[in-house]
Amino acid sequence: MEQYIMKGGNPLVGEVTISGAKNAALGILTAAVMTDDDVVVENLPDVRDINVMLEAIQEIGASVTRIDRHTVRINGSEIGEVSVDDEYIRRIRASYYFIGALLGKYKSAQVPLPGGCNIGSRPIDLHLKGFRALGAEITVERGAVVAHAIDLVGAHIYLDKVSVGATINVMMAATLAEGRTIIENAAKEPHVVDVANFLNSMGANIKGAGTDIIRIRGVRKLHGTEYSIIPDQIEAGTFMCAAAITRGDVMVKNVIPKHLEAISAKLTEIGCEVIEFDDAVRVVGKPSQYHTNINTLPYPGFPTDMQPQITVTLALARGTSIVTESIFENRFKYVDELARMGSNIKVEGNVAVIDGVKGFSGASVNAPDLRAGAALVIAGLAADGYTTVDEIGYIQRGYECFEEKLKALGAVIEKVDSEKEAQKFKLQAG
Ligand code: UD1
Repeated sequence: MEQYIMKGGNPLVGEVTISGAKNAALGILTAAVMTDDDVVVENLPDVRDINVMLEAIQEIGASVTRIDRHTVRINGSEIGEVSVDDEYIRRIRASYYFIGALLGKYKSAQVPLPGGCNIGSRPIDLHLKGFRALGAEITVERGAVVAHAIDLVGAHIYLDKVSVGATINVMMAATLAEGRTIIENAAKEPHVVDVANFLNSMGANIKGAGTDIIRIRGVRKLHGTEYSIIPDQIEAGTFMCAAAITRGDVMVKNVIPKHLEAISAKLTEIGCEVIEFDDAVRVVGKPSQYHTNINTLPYPGFPTDMQPQITVTLALARGTSIVTESIFENRFKYVDELARMGSNIKVEGNVAVIDGVKGFSGASVNAPDLRAGAALVIAGLAADGYTTVDEIGYIQRGYECFEEKLKALGAVIEKVDSEKEAQKFKLQAG
């Protein structure tokens, strides 16, 4: 079983280059099948979720050609199947984007309902509400969403909750609906904007992405395009926290600093130095860091996907911090793992009360999900002695070359898959 083993204590120093945004790429790759022309997508992160999504796209009959590690060509002209295999939806929840993409293009889609996820209940009622408003008939049959429409017709849709997935999914379908759609209370996340820009580059007519009202004028057809995905805000934020918690000095390159403002502001508040450049941010993690309070919110608020990484950082800051998780109800499970390293955190419902401790000590921990897994790794890099993190398949879903990028910053970390390799690492690390 693969695990990360690390010897903590080295401040991370140097430069790291951020990969393309996983969550933008998931939307963009599914939207790419909405034309019969070739679509070239660049700056794809080479991570498991993306590779599974590419397999799913091939499975429905589209052709996928790898041009290089980060570039693919997709052609959706030969799609024979509007039904997506259950296996893919189990492996990546975001394959629900096939509903919007296939319904838009073929007026028909059959996609298994995504199951529960280990960060809390994640319904898709708002996605379905949006599709119904566009005139689709939606039923749930044998665990799958079955969507059909004779014609999709633009509508005025109010999303009761700010949802990234529902905004992107409905936006995709509405792109090929007749007439005008207005999505109110839309999500404003950078990847919503990126998917909208991508669709516009294919001939869609979407205005207002990035604000809470998106206006879409339906078009009859989309055409081919070449498009480069934005940098990953969460990967960048994770390295920013890694710099802070290890009291290091890291230049995080290939980012859009505006997307990182909430994270930069909080790191500055706790006493780190954050310097913004045109396409980089430098984080200097000062020896003394102080408590703060954080509430996760839709963009431009503090991202829920950064909650575990900032919580571990605050666990080594002086004083008492309060972190409130407002998006997902079950996102503090890693706190019990962190306690094994000596943290002092109490969780009541969706609130964590963090009493900063002077140091962590290395321990064996399990990654409960993607972002919490990454948070435990950066905690291990700040801990005294050896830490092992198990279940790293979660981390590989969303971080490209995580251990290599950390090593290049001076981290003493290795991916191992046997006790023997772990022992060898310890002998070498000293
Ligand atoms: C996306 C991201 C995920 C991130 C989340 C919030 C992708 C692939 N995943 O997930 O990494 O943590 O945004 O930024 O981009 N909700 C409903 N009904 C719905 C849809 C959502 O009640 O139909 C609720 C959810 O339970 C949650 C909230 O709305 O409480 C926000 O969820 P949403 O933004 O939809 O998250 P995802 O798109 O699943």
